Amino acid sequence: MIKAIAGTKDILPENIRLWKHLESLVEKEMVLFNFKEIRTPIFEETALFSHGIGEATDIVSKEMYTFTDRSGTSVSLKPEMTASVVRAFIEHELNKKANFYKLFYISPMFRQERPQAGRLRQFHQFGAEAIGSNDPIVDAEIIIIANNILKNLGLKNFEIKINSLGIPTSREKYKEELRKYLGDKLDSLSEDSKKRFKTNILRIFDSKNETDRKIMAGAPTILDYLDDESREHFENVKQLLSESNVPVTVDHKLVRGLDYYTNTTFEIISKSVGAQSALCGGGRYNLLIEQLGGKPVPATGFAAGIERILLACENEKSINLKDEELDIYLVRLDKDKKDKVFAIANFLRKNGLITELDYLLRSVKAQMREANRLNSKYVLMIGGDEFLRNAAVLKNMQSGEQEEVILDNLDGIVKRIESVK
Ligand code: HAM
Repeated sequence: MIKAIAGTKDILPENIRLWKHLESLVEKEMVLFNFKEIRTPIFEETALFSHGIGEATDIVSKEMYTFTDRSGTSVSLKPEMTASVVRAFIEHELNKKANFYKLFYISPMFRQERPQAGRLRQFHQFGAEAIGSNDPIVDAEIIIIANNILKNLGLKNFEIKINSLGIPTSREKYKEELRKYLGDKLDSLSEDSKKRFKTNILRIFDSKNETDRKIMAGAPTILDYLDDESREHFENVKQLLSESNVPVTVDHKLVRGLDYYTNTTFEIISKSVGAQSALCGGGRYNLLIEQLGGKPVPATGFAAGIERILLACENEKSINLKDEELDIYLVRLDKDKKDKVFAIANFLRKNGLITELDYLLRSVKAQMREANRLNSKYVLMIGGDEFLRNAAVLKNMQSGEQEEVILDNLDGIVKRIESVK
């Protein structure tokens, strides 16, 4: 038997409602902040991601689904959306249409990571990118949107961590200090961190190795190396969040796994899921648009992992959706009433009632059981003596009350059921 590929998941009908619930909350929040939806292709030229996210990052060096298509072009399934959104922004010259763009998305992403709870190879993100302003208000709003969506999903057990990576010149100075600090400790670092010392020194902060962590606990902090403007920007963002009653924790070790960040970075960490606890990550990327060939414009954004968030919701039992219901189930009392039942179902559906009928020629008892299982508010029993009088029995499944209704007056049934909706 062929099974789904490890790290990919089917979303079955019983789970779709949760997904739709989340998606509708995302859309509602994005509309409140006047973000417009954007959809980009599932795959792009590989160079977009290697230039955008950074050659030395784990995503680009180890995790992308990259292949050469029949024309010899190297393409990759998108591992994230920021690079794609920026590509679309530049390609369609959106900067000429407006000075400031606020875009959001909900989309599958692909990373060939080792699958585990909360870590998939095809996963889904919702996210937002605000392109064109360097105002700290935008950084704050991006974090507020992410926070609001998680709160609206009923989540409580999470923490927002925030940091500033400053600008490249101040960061280079800081990296120099970090190199000095680690110089005589290099032999004690894990093999991975030794490699990172050369390729991407800041990422040593992400090491899970105990010794690495102890060593990094004593490392100098990047916040001491920020230039004045970056420091002021960071203070402003924190101030705005505090005024908005969004609590954040400063974590100078938060370096993020993508190379494009400048200034603000943040992550939202859940305490209700396992090791893969980052529900959301983002920050400012003021240089990316120019780096990908556009005019220099500042930008900031975030993305959140839907599977992880739904896992947190499940563990915190934060979502209680009403059971699904039918308006009416048509029970066929005699086998020969098929055409009549079909015609009535068509009429009721045309008039907006969620209507179900029996397709399996089941007994009356089995049809009633099915109506119950489907939480039908009403049952219409068609056939028997009533049918000879051109009538049928309408049963209210909650109260058990029954009444005779005339089949020529289906409008009456619709009104009756609509009135209790
Ligand atoms: P990221 O931190 O790589 O950032 O991903 C954002 C979120 O996607 C993570 O916090 C996590 O919830 C989810 N995620 C990532 N990888 C996986 C996986 N393998 N399985 C399940 N969930 C996963 C970005 O993608 C940036 N584009 C965010 C951004 C937008 N920065 C600025 N604008």
